[in-house]
Amino acid sequence: MVAVNQAWSSVKGSVSLRRRCGGAALAADQAPLARRRRNLPWSSMTRVVIITGASSGIGQAAALALAPSSRLLLVARRADRLAALRDQVRAAGGQAEACACDLSAAGAGAPIIARALACFGAIDALVNNAGCYETAAVDALDEAHAERLWRLNVLSPMLLARAAIPVLARSPTATIITVSSVASDAAFAGSAVYAGSKAAIEAWSRVAREELRAQGIRVGVIVPGATATAVWGATMPVARERMCQPEDVAAAIRFMLDAPPSASVDRLVITPPGGPF
Ligand SMILES: NC(=O)c1ccc[n+]([C@@H]2O[C@H](COP(=O)([O-])OP(=O)(O)OC[C@H]3O[C@@H](n4cnc5c(N)ncnc54)[C@H](OP(=O)(O)O)[C@@H]3O)[C@@H](O)[C@H]2O)c1
Repeated sequence: MVAVNQAWSSVKGSVSLRRRCGGAALAADQAPLARRRRNLPWSSMTRVVIITGASSGIGQAAALALAPSSRLLLVARRADRLAALRDQVRAAGGQAEACACDLSAAGAGAPIIARALACFGAIDALVNNAGCYETAAVDALDEAHAERLWRLNVLSPMLLARAAIPVLARSPTATIITVSSVASDAAFAGSAVYAGSKAAIEAWSRVAREELRAQGIRVGVIVPGATATAVWGATMPVARERMCQPEDVAAAIRFMLDAPPSASVDRLVITPPGGPF
């Protein structure tokens, strides 16, 4: 098994870290959690991670990056692609289960959490990665388009997190990571609904971080720039080689999860150095 703190300990980047248990004296009801975190042999742990949008792009790359140190529940709609990824992880000696479902369907969250518990008995991390990118000019907004995008990019991660929180709270390294976008605070013509959805999920993440602090659940956001995945369809804005690769974003997700229990990586921005955004 790969030690999960390997990458963490060798990184010297300008990442903003926040100690979770240092500083002010802990409230009495937080002390046991702090002790649990300090005593945890986290470097040898095989955490349970739910990854949404695992059937392609960033989610698939994240699954492969996390596989050596995690037990994975892979979530997306395309069952054939999930099964192929599950088999690939297993062939390499890892543990993975596939959970095919439409995240934007009403009540999608609870069965995913139940499945993770049935398969692995715990949940240590939720990676809210599934999302869609569709453009529309503000004066030609289609209501169905906006509702579909909002449901998947905003509501579904919130509802899945709500279902996961009682289980996550039992984990000494509980983490919720949501994949946002540089569009959340930039202005790209045609991206108004998408930008709004990513800004909304970042705002939710900031509030969730504060609310869930007492339960010891870390909440972080990954903010990718242009990344070479299927999300661009035939409209790649620049050559693929000038974009980030899904594996680059996956490495950032792993870095966030590998943070020692005493630290939370709250926001990581990954952009292509040779690209426009
Ligand atoms: N690529 C970029 O340049 C870029 C930049 C910034 C942020 N992002 C964000 O990165 C995340 C991953 O996107 P990607 O670039 O890796 O694109 P992708 O390859 O198209 O991945 C999207 C994933 O979401 C899943 N998905 C879509 N609708 C779903 C639904 N209703 N229910 C369940 N799963 C659903 C897809 O699987 P199924 O089709 O099998 O359901 C797929 O696995 C998204 O949140 C995106 O907004 C991407």
